[in-house]
Amino acid sequence: MRRFPAEFADLLTPRGETLLAGRHAESGALTNPRTRFLALGGLIDPKQARAVALLLEKSLLAHLREMAQPIPPETIWEETRNYAEQLPKTMRQRTTHLDNPRSAAFRVAQDIGLIACLRSDSYRAFAAALAGRALKKKYGLQAIAYATGDYAGPHTDHHPEESDAARGYFDMHLSFATAAVRDQYLVYARTGHFTEMVEVTQTPGLVTAYRLPFWHYTTPLRAKPKQDAKARRWVLLGTFLFADQGAR
Ligand SMILES: [Fe+2]
Repeated sequence: MRRFPAEFADLLTPRGETLLAGRHAESGALTNPRTRFLALGGLIDPKQARAVALLLEKSLLAHLREMAQPIPPETIWEETRNYAEQLPKTMRQRTTHLDNPRSAAFRVAQDIGLIACLRSDSYRAFAAALAGRALKKKYGLQAIAYATGDYAGPHTDHHPEESDAARGYFDMHLSFATAAVRDQYLVYARTGHFTEMVEVTQTPGLVTAYRLPFWHYTTPLRAKPKQDAKARRWVLLGTFLFADQGAR
């Protein structure tokens, strides 16, 4: 693959097309008050998904910047009471937003057709079908690459300071792992405990959907033996606001 297809729908399997048409069994599942996270395989064509990972490796990797927020040492050594530690958001990954036409990453993403694909009508319609709710027209795009050992610690993605996101919003993540990856898990909380865990690299083109905020974390990416340098999970993220901000 040299370029992304102009329409996101051209990456989909017949099952993916049923979701786009609102006829998939999980269409609207996120409108259930108890459901905040969905992971759906078999929607994106697996051959194309592997090709997407290779194309992103070749073109976009060099334009990402490292985001590293390590554990602050004072969370241990400046504590004065037992068991009173508090962990801020920790992470290590490489990332770029894809919203700034002046950035080098944006221009590369444009050259390989990524921007057009993620701005296509079928991409937006697919996200709305997954959310099961009308979404605002304007949405954010970001690319993340997890290398071996990269992770995201527990966090909620709550944005109480932004009025249109303060009551919740919707994220759609498309995962494309290279063949050298062994595994990575998304762990999330349900009814107050981190009880849920989903593997996110072994299904090419896995689609995950988040009705944020809720507590979740991403475990360190593990490579197959002796393949540390080649192992990477790419995530293409779309962040959407609900057209109707009524319900949580
Ligand atoms: Fe998150």
